Amino acid sequence: MMHPSEEIFCAHSNVLRGKTVVLGISGSIAAVECFALARDLIRHGAEVVPVMTPSAAEMVAPMAMEFACGRPPICSLGGQAEHVSLINEGEGGADLLLIYPASANTVSKVALGIDDTSVTSMATVALGAGTPVIMAPAMHNSMYRNPAVQRNLEALRAMGVSLVGPVIEDLRAKAAGRDEVLAAALRALGGKDLEGRRVLVIGGRGEEPVDDMRVLSNRSSGLMALELASAAHRRGADVEMWMGAHDVRVPSYIPMRRFGPFSELLGMLDEAEHDMVLVPAALPDFSPERRGGKIDSAEGGFELRLHALPKALPLLVREGRTVVGFKAESGVDEDALAARARGRLEEHGLDLVVANDVSVAGEGMARVLLVAAGDVSVVEGSKGRIADAILDRAAGRG
Ligand SMILES: Cc1cc2nc3c(=O)[nH]c(=O)nc-3n(C[C@H](O)[C@H](O)[C@H](O)COP(=O)(O)O)c2cc1C
Repeated sequence: MMHPSEEIFCAHSNVLRGKTVVLGISGSIAAVECFALARDLIRHGAEVVPVMTPSAAEMVAPMAMEFACGRPPICSLGGQAEHVSLINEGEGGADLLLIYPASANTVSKVALGIDDTSVTSMATVALGAGTPVIMAPAMHNSMYRNPAVQRNLEALRAMGVSLVGPVIEDLRAKAAGRDEVLAAALRALGGKDLEGRRVLVIGGRGEEPVDDMRVLSNRSSGLMALELASAAHRRGADVEMWMGAHDVRVPSYIPMRRFGPFSELLGMLDEAEHDMVLVPAALPDFSPERRGGKIDSAEGGFELRLHALPKALPLLVREGRTVVGFKAESGVDEDALAARARGRLEEHGLDLVVANDVSVAGEGMARVLLVAAGDVSVVEGSKGRIADAILDRAAGRG
């Protein structure tokens, strides 16, 4: 019979397939998030081994973690010497120790090499064995400001521990959000093929002012930009997003700059110092003649005069930089779509054009053509899968 944790295995991706994540849970109330975090890791293919301190086991029922992970949590070490049998050096050892949440107590003990709970014992072995360690501190702000805790956090950084968060909010130094912790785990265990590459994703939609209130815009949500930036982050790149208006939530671990009208974006282009620039943004082709104030509806209608805007893409083309453009059409067959994408590729000197027919795009799913010099391929599936295929091609791996 299948355990419920197996039903969700690899439901989102295979990125963590074959990887063992030891999830250390210490005594912060943020431990209640661990159930969902463990399931997120499993959805990406990880085998998750829950380990709990006695305080954590008072806050979250060990049975809940057993249900989440399909195995009972290790709440105290036993005759199996789980700390050394789980986290051993080399083949067969855990791939990551993720301590979420990390209490002030556990932070300080790990920094000082003290191990007197199953979680701190795992950390002592991991830091000696060279196993990657991620910790997400969570505590009251006064505890966080305690000089001893600050010193111990600094010591952890110096020991190579990746600290995610905390997020300072009023009186709390709250644990980083689950999505941020998951992203850190995916980046730590992902392919790292884009490590050291500076990647810029320009996404969202332009908004050209008609008067002081109204704008001329389009329906682009920014989802493709977010998928590309998330995939590049997971693959080790230093990613930045420049976003027009958008409906998606850009996570805090991806630095973002905003632009409104096209003129603002034009003013930013010279600052791009990236090795790879991807532009899924739906940028305006025309700008209206702006009128001051708010046009009065009593006018009963008026004519809008539009001026053509320059193209941003050719201004981004540089020696040694990979530039990827996007071409959306509606209601054209694939041969015509490929021909138009090729025209764009050659006209602007791009490395790759991603073309799609917006009339066949569904929520989160798409079918695109990847058009490069002398070559066209089709990719279908979730936007996440398409983002990876685009990065593969752009990095010369597809
Ligand atoms: C309801 C409750 C919530 C707590 N939340 C936190 C917290 O967020 N961060 C923290 O450092 N300690 C918190 N504590 C205190 C720790 O549980 C306590 O310091 C404990 O000794 C930590 O042990 P551990 O690190 O072995 O889990 C909390 C205690 C209680 C009772």
